[in-house]
Amino acid sequence: MPQEQTLSLIKPSSVTANQIGGIINKFEEGGLKVVAAKMVRLTENQAKDFYGVHQGKPFFGELISFMTKGPILAQVLEGENAIQKNREIMGATNPAEAAPGTIRAEFAHSMTENAVHGSDAPETAEKEIAFFFDKKDIYGTI
Ligand code: CMP
Repeated sequence: MPQEQTLSLIKPSSVTANQIGGIINKFEEGGLKVVAAKMVRLTENQAKDFYGVHQGKPFFGELISFMTKGPILAQVLEGENAIQKNREIMGATNPAEAAPGTIRAEFAHSMTENAVHGSDAPETAEKEIAFFFDKKDIYGTI
């Protein structure tokens, strides 16, 4: 399996609830390494740009309002098969369907307040990582 990097966001509700450590612990226990991290508060325009693929969907307004209501922790995670592994560690988008032990099963409240975001494919990972990080600020091996 190839070494990969993926983007992870710890969402505002989880930052506010003091759950950063618990969530990062799940990544580390699952074999992923944090190779870049920063706390940022997205502006409305930045959030709309990041989630542009969802523009026009019924949940878009609520998603943008939620993602801008406080700081998030953006991270680059690295490891073998990191994109898929991160998705397994996060669990299903809807926390009601997330498997026991996953981040969303333990930390999420609803479809919108679902604790974390993770890239879903290599092309999106590359774009999403570049949205938050300069290459020089990523301390990975690839
Ligand atoms: P995320 O992985 O950040 O990507 C888009 C987000 O939109 C998703 O997690 C959810 O928080 C939110 N969302 C709200 N409603 C839905 C829905 N019906 N389907 C998919 N995503 C939704």
